Amino acid sequence: MARLLVTGGAGYIGAHTMVELLAAGHNVICLDNFSNSVPEAVARVQQIAGRAVTLAIGDVRDDALLRRLLAEHPIDAVIHFAALKAVGESVARPLDYYDNNVYGTLVLLRAMAAAGVKRIVFSSSATVYGAPEQLPLTEGAPVRTTNPYGASKAMVEQMLRDLCAADPEWSAVSLRYFNPIGAHASGRIGEDPRDTPNNLFPYVTQVAVGKRERLSIWGNDWPTPDGTGVRDYLHVVDLAAGHLRAVDYSAAHQGFMPINLGTGRGTSVLELVRAFESATGIAIPHSFAPRRPGDIAACWADPSLAARLLGWRAERSVEQACADGWRWQQHNPEGYRAGK
Ligand SMILES: NC(=O)c1ccc[n+]([C@@H]2O[C@H](COP(=O)([O-])OP(=O)(O)OC[C@H]3O[C@@H](n4cnc5c(N)ncnc54)[C@H](O)[C@@H]3O)[C@@H](O)[C@H]2O)c1
Repeated sequence: MARLLVTGGAGYIGAHTMVELLAAGHNVICLDNFSNSVPEAVARVQQIAGRAVTLAIGDVRDDALLRRLLAEHPIDAVIHFAALKAVGESVARPLDYYDNNVYGTLVLLRAMAAAGVKRIVFSSSATVYGAPEQLPLTEGAPVRTTNPYGASKAMVEQMLRDLCAADPEWSAVSLRYFNPIGAHASGRIGEDPRDTPNNLFPYVTQVAVGKRERLSIWGNDWPTPDGTGVRDYLHVVDLAAGHLRAVDYSAAHQGFMPINLGTGRGTSVLELVRAFESATGIAIPHSFAPRRPGDIAACWADPSLAARLLGWRAERSVEQACADGWRWQQHNPEGYRAGK
């Protein structure tokens, strides 16, 4: 069993991953500054898993704190979720994104190197591929970012690649996530956007619960079968399980390895809305609006490298993600803030 430092563990994907790590018997230290999450998420992770997490409240850019944490705890590997993640916001505030995502990772990597901890699993994104030339996307597709958020992920990947080239003891697995949706089957943890959701799925669940009137679908004139954008939606619990496999893989393999985590299936916005309606019995009023600048028509993964190297594949359907995501939203209409 490993002792793992999980940065950003209180967030959407981090919380689901901590549940899986604890269930597998790993010991977890969570570092989070709660800039986009709340302590209640960690409390619920512990309730679901029936095990405790060691919580450190602080920022990955705090060098002294990281060095202290790594000195006090014999950490085997780090899973690095902590980042800002809104594409539109990154265009408006690029320096905040480079500071948090790139500088934060630099501080973390320096502290890890100083402590002799040379294993990291990094939260990258399909955004690094930009507008794809060919589908499905393999890890060999060119990295060509179109916004500061994506650029911050590509820059961190470059740092990891260079670090692994310089010191062959390092192991860095960069997981390029496609579109995580849904929630833990218990309905106790899930995605909890602070403001207007940037992603489709939490917007749909907020319409369903009556917090928002209708869904705007950005574009019905894309070159896709029904004219709406196509993405690779994967259940967040499948994504969490991928981290477990990546941690194991990093124990036995050195070097830099980017790996897609997706289902390999494209689902259009209208198909996702219909899947949600049939899984929940709730109609989602929607209307069409013009395309958003910078959006792309379609994007889905070739997940065969994850199958080959990690023995991982997505197991849950979009319908199941809809049912689980709805359970979370229904029981927690105000997210974690509504109390226990
Ligand atoms: N959700 C997605 O669709 C998606 C897709 C691809 C990649 N990712 C990446 O996965 C990771 C997790 O995403 P998420 O959806 O769980 O986001 P999230 O915002 O829910 O979680 C991020 C967590 O990191 C914390 N955090 C942010 N900056 C920090 C800092 N400087 N120090 C300490 N803690 C900090 C936040 O408080 C939050 O708890 C991010 O790196 C994100 O870029 C997410």
